[in-house]
Amino acid sequence: MKRILLIVGGGIAAYKSCELIRLCRRAGIEVTCVLTEGGTHFVTPMTLAALSERQVYTTLWDLKDEAEMGHIQLSRQADLVVVAPATADLLARMAAGVADDLATTLLLATDKPVLAAPAMNVRMWQHAATRRNVATLRADGVTVLEPDEGAMACGEYGPGRLPEPPAILAAIEAALAPDRRLEGRHILVTAGPTHEPIDPVRYIANRSSGKQGYAIAAACAAMGARVTLVSGPVALPAPAGTTRIEVETAREMAAAVEAALPADVAIMVAAVADWRVEGAADQKLKKSQGAPALSLVANPDILANVASSPARPRLVIGFAAETERVVEHATAKRTAKRADWIVANDVSGDVMGGDANAVHLVTDIGVETWPAASKAAVARRLAERIADAL
Ligand code: CTP
Repeated sequence: MKRILLIVGGGIAAYKSCELIRLCRRAGIEVTCVLTEGGTHFVTPMTLAALSERQVYTTLWDLKDEAEMGHIQLSRQADLVVVAPATADLLARMAAGVADDLATTLLLATDKPVLAAPAMNVRMWQHAATRRNVATLRADGVTVLEPDEGAMACGEYGPGRLPEPPAILAAIEAALAPDRRLEGRHILVTAGPTHEPIDPVRYIANRSSGKQGYAIAAACAAMGARVTLVSGPVALPAPAGTTRIEVETAREMAAAVEAALPADVAIMVAAVADWRVEGAADQKLKKSQGAPALSLVANPDILANVASSPARPRLVIGFAAETERVVEHATAKRTAKRADWIVANDVSGDVMGGDANAVHLVTDIGVETWPAASKAAVARRLAERIADAL
């Protein structure tokens, strides 16, 4: 029998945790509940105790057996720690490593995987501080689910609603029986933009944030792969379990990729600059010299080179960022670059820098159109497809 420790935070969505307990128990998962101080204002310990048929813990001081380090025991008896609803405050304290109540003490003391299902007001979810905390937690290896979008209890509309209990249960079941099919595989991922210098202070770049490539590196690592992430300049922490090699220019990226081979799979997600400035200036160009005439020369095509290298990985996957005739261009790119698969996305909207993505997977047998999803979900699906193919 699998066991979870369910931490119920102080949000209106706490009532949905009651339904989650029922669903878990029906799925044969034992649930022990911890209710935060804030949580007691939304559901009672009695409700959770009745549904879980187990004692409910609320404060650090009601663990009678502190001699046995009760709070550590509690976090270790479970196979998974689930935080639902994870409020903005709880996520912030988790990200900072604060341990000022029973819930956060357990979260800091646990050696088990942690899954958080956020629920909060849309502005709180979109606030820079929450964005930063979620990125930190994900880099620490915590699975933070994407909240649902819709009408909120506070009358606003947008992302921030607790995912529906069946969706949380599915994530719990996935976390309890992790897919480790990429164990023993070496996967090489490129991500982010490249910066091509004009002079020591100026460069040519593009709008790539690196988010999709980083999500793919994280998804492959979560499935057990050894991941080398060759990254252009981005503002993201290296995902847990990956080895990151930071580069700036396309030529540096090409060299790092070559040095990282052999690999079983290469996934070239980087938005590599097609051209660089020929003879970039050693000293800062002065305005008084007048507008410089920049002469551009082609950069190496890293994807094409990897796909025709003697050390060609078994599966070579490219990306195609297109603004029109997406599938047609992607199909042509697959052939021209000798990639096995091309993941094509329409970047005419706000995909670049955003958190969601809608893609088409172009393979030798045809085109699959995937429904729009978070970049993390697209990454998971791609990692699963890779495991199927190997
Ligand atoms: N790519 C690469 N090296 C380059 C250029 C692109 O490895 N110098 C890879 C990207 O990582 C991506 C794929 O090639 O996987 C597609 O890149 P994209 O820029 O969309 O295609 P291009 O070949 O540059 O074609 P175009 O700019 O005309 O769309």
